[in-house]
Amino acid sequence: MARQSPLILTTLLSVIATATLVTGESKVGICYGTNSDDLPPAFAVVDIIKGNHISKVRLFNPNPPTLKAFKGSGIELMIGVPNENLTYISTGGVDAATEWLKTNIFDIVPANQVKYIAVGNEVLLRDTFYAEHIVPAMKNLYQALKNQDLDGKIKLSSPQASSVLESTNPPSSAVFADSSLSVIRPLLAFLKETGAPLMVNTYPYFAYASDPNNVPLGFTIFSSDASPVQDGGIKYTNMYEASLDAFVVAMEKEGYKDIPLTVSETGWPTSGGPGAEPIKASVYNNNVIWRALGGQGTPKRPHIPVEVYLFDLLDENLKDGQEFEKHFGIFNLDGSTAYSLRFN
Ligand SMILES: *[C@@H]1O[C@H](CO)[C@@H](O)[C@H](O)[C@H]1NC(C)=O
Repeated sequence: MARQSPLILTTLLSVIATATLVTGESKVGICYGTNSDDLPPAFAVVDIIKGNHISKVRLFNPNPPTLKAFKGSGIELMIGVPNENLTYISTGGVDAATEWLKTNIFDIVPANQVKYIAVGNEVLLRDTFYAEHIVPAMKNLYQALKNQDLDGKIKLSSPQASSVLESTNPPSSAVFADSSLSVIRPLLAFLKETGAPLMVNTYPYFAYASDPNNVPLGFTIFSSDASPVQDGGIKYTNMYEASLDAFVVAMEKEGYKDIPLTVSETGWPTSGGPGAEPIKASVYNNNVIWRALGGQGTPKRPHIPVEVYLFDLLDENLKDGQEFEKHFGIFNLDGSTAYSLRFN
């Protein structure tokens, strides 16, 4: 059935990709998750990234051999502070933060290769135990950076899952969940004061996979014939932009109109769940890339660009959870792409 449609899509995609080919650095980064026991050596991974002209990478933790491989590669890094380190940095003051930065990062890679430090990941979803330590840890890290004159160069944020929001459909009804406010309010104040983006992990795929009979695939995957969602004066044609504007709206309701968004993770798996296949991953990710390359914002804020880190560089065979969680890899282990994709 419908055997031709992947071919037609592939052709269309290459036309789109060619049309958006722009000069210079890629504006799209990629996440390098390492929860796997069959990864190529870190130096080979760096070669894959450079070979595809990807200039920004998110590392979830400061693993020394990995960082060493990236040193001097010209690739800009977002480096994660593990959730388990937040208590130490928050309670140990600026000295602990300074020491953490030195031993985990600056002893290994030069500061000018670091663009972001992501302080914890989805703490309010996964590790609420550490929640109260997020913003105090960020403040200590900020002061530590400032003491080294690095506060202007390296930005601190803390990636959040969409679960910090409530009533996101339509986007104009979104608010931050009550349970998240004690963290989100000081976080937004900190981001505003330091000129850093709100980092969000957003996966329309999860919405689709959790209820494939009722969540329309077309809306999650940017189909041009998907039924749009009309929200006041804005027509949403895809779930990706609707999810991002839900964050924009929720921030506005807290009094913050101009904190930019960075998508610290988004992606689509190639197997292991409903709709998980290479052609759909290709369509989804190419649409995300195309918007980022064009410097597009969201329908509510078309002129505030959204920076994006795609998830994931390679499959991660040791990930917990549903089978599809293991299959977000954009590249095969030999460095070839798992499906057609243009990064710049
Ligand atoms: C940071 O977390 C790692 C595990 O991710 C742990 O091995 C290390 O001891 C922690 N360091 C501090 C200072 O808490």
